[in-house]
Formats: sequence, structure tokens, C-alpha cells
Amino acid sequence: MADYSKEDFIQLVKRISAFLSSKISKVLNTQDLQSVWAITGLAVAVIFTWRLFRTPSVPQRRQPKNQAPSSSSSSGVNNNNSNPDANLFPSGVSSSYEDSRAQTVIDEFFQPVKPTLGQIVRQRLSDGRKVTCRLLGVILEENTSEELQKQATVKSSVLDVLLEITKFCDLYLMETVLDDESEKKVLLALENAGIFTSGGLVKDKVLFCSTEIGRTSFVRQLEPDWHIDSSQEITTQLARFIKYQLHISTTKTERIASNIFSSSSLEQFFNG
Ligand SMILES: *[C@@H]1O[C@H](CO)[C@@H](O)[C@H](O)[C@H]1NC(C)=O
Ligand SMILES: *[C@@H]1O[C@H](CO)[C@@H](O)[C@H](O)[C@H]1NC(C)=O
Repeated sequence: MADYSKEDFIQLVKRISAFLSSKISKVLNTQDLQSVWAITGLAVAVIFTWRLFRTPSVPQRRQPKNQAPSSSSSSGVNNNNSNPDANLFPSGVSSSYEDSRAQTVIDEFFQPVKPTLGQIVRQRLSDGRKVTCRLLGVILEENTSEELQKQATVKSSVLDVLLEITKFCDLYLMETVLDDESEKKVLLALENAGIFTSGGLVKDKVLFCSTEIGRTSFVRQLEPDWHIDSSQEITTQLARFIKYQLHISTTKTERIASNIFSSSSLEQFFNG
């Protein structure tokens, strides 16, 4: 009995380790390893306790190494329940049942430590505290300065992430515009989206310039930890000066430099 439990226990620990290592790499960074070990210990303790209580209902049966072939003469032909004992706990079924039980238990343990969007944002920004970001194609639906002469629309999908960034970082938004009207449209759209009321952003931190070079010099003057842009040219030019950049592009491009990350959208970078 003791021997049986010990064997089972080792099996179980192996399975849990496998699950955990896949979870850890997905969900947590190395800083959280201590809490992972605490959780591992707790999970193992709970599962083991659960198994101890459950054990009496499981037949204390050992598979002999050399199973007598005569006993399977009738069951060998038809593997369908003619030997009830052999089929009561087919090893494959019970193992996958235990796997899924173990996974459920582990999933439940991981539920409370699932990081919030704010934590993910902080982690992904590597604790950078100053962020500059262009508007077209990142915060706004529009992709060109010409479109901004007609209208400006804030992407609703980006608002949650934007709010988390403003809570934690000094954020500057910037864009190249062709006239004063575009500027007004952009500020009004940002205001209507609640960006100035819900977050830590003020209108003074939305900067407009008339050329793309103007945006580059804004970024260089502000010296952010991160710059977010949809222009590959500007991202490439800034690579030497800015610690980290996020290049927003819907087409999959080659990685420009090791300090430049790329994503199809701002929200995808943090949620994906
Ligand atoms: C096992 O039983 C099921 C239903 O009872 C039947 O459909 C299937 O053909 C059987 N398989 C064998 C190998 O006899
Ligand atoms: C901007 O570009 C993206 C990606 O190419 C596209 O999905 C989107 O519809 C464009 N927006 C407008 C307003 O044309």
C-alpha cells in the first residue's frame, strides 16, 4: 500500500512539474519564481491529500510483468468488456483522467495569480517610465495625415491599454498634421474618447508637427524609454537613440533591430 502510493506520488509530481513548466513560461517572469514554488508545494500537497482520500476506492492491483496469456484467450479476441477487471481501470483512461484532474486543480491555483492588464503592461514595458507614441495607425483608425483633414477616430480597442500606460508612465502622443483643423479634430476625438479625463494624460502632452522629421526630433528631445510608431523609416532612424521601440505594422516585417519589437497593434502587443 505504502509502496503503491509512493510510486503514484512520484508519477503525479512529474506530471505537475510538466504542467507547471509550461504554465510558468507562458504566464510569469523569473521574478515570480518564488511564488511559483510556493504554489507548487501547495498544489502537490492538495493533490496528494485528495489522492490519499480517493485511494481506498481504487483496487490495490499491480500489473504483473508477465501476464498469463491463457487468461486473455477469451478477452484477446474481443477487447470489449469480456474481461471486466482489465477494462475497469484501463491505464490509458485513468492516466488521462488524472492528467485532466491535475490540470484542473493547477488551473484553479493559477487563477488568482493571473496578472492584471496593468501588470502585463508594466512587465512588457520592462519598467520603462517614459513613453512616446504616434497617433496615426496606432491610437487612431486613420493611417495618413490626409485622412486627418477629414476626420479623426480613436480606436476603441486601444483605450484599455492606453489607460494602463498613462497610469504608470509619462506618455506623450504625437502626430504629423497638415493643418490646424486636423489638430483640432484629433484633440476633440481624444477628448471624446475620455483620454484626458480617465488617464493621466493632459492636452499639453499631445504634440503636433508638420513633418516626419519633426516627429523624430520630438522623440529625441523627450528621450523616452519607449517610442511607438507605425513608420518603419522613423523606427529605423531612432534605433540608435531610443532604448526600446515598438513598431506597429499589419504586414509581417523582418526585425529591424534587437531593441525594436513589432506587433500588429498596440493592444495586441500587451494582450497577445
Ligand atoms: C464494442 O462494443 C461497442 C458497443 O457496445 C461496439 O459498437 C463495438 O463494435 C465493439 N467492439 C468490438 C471490438 O467488439
Ligand atoms: C489603416 O490601415 C489598416 C491596416 O492596413 C486597415 O486595417 C485600416 O482599415 C486602415 N484605416 C483606414 C481608416 O483606412
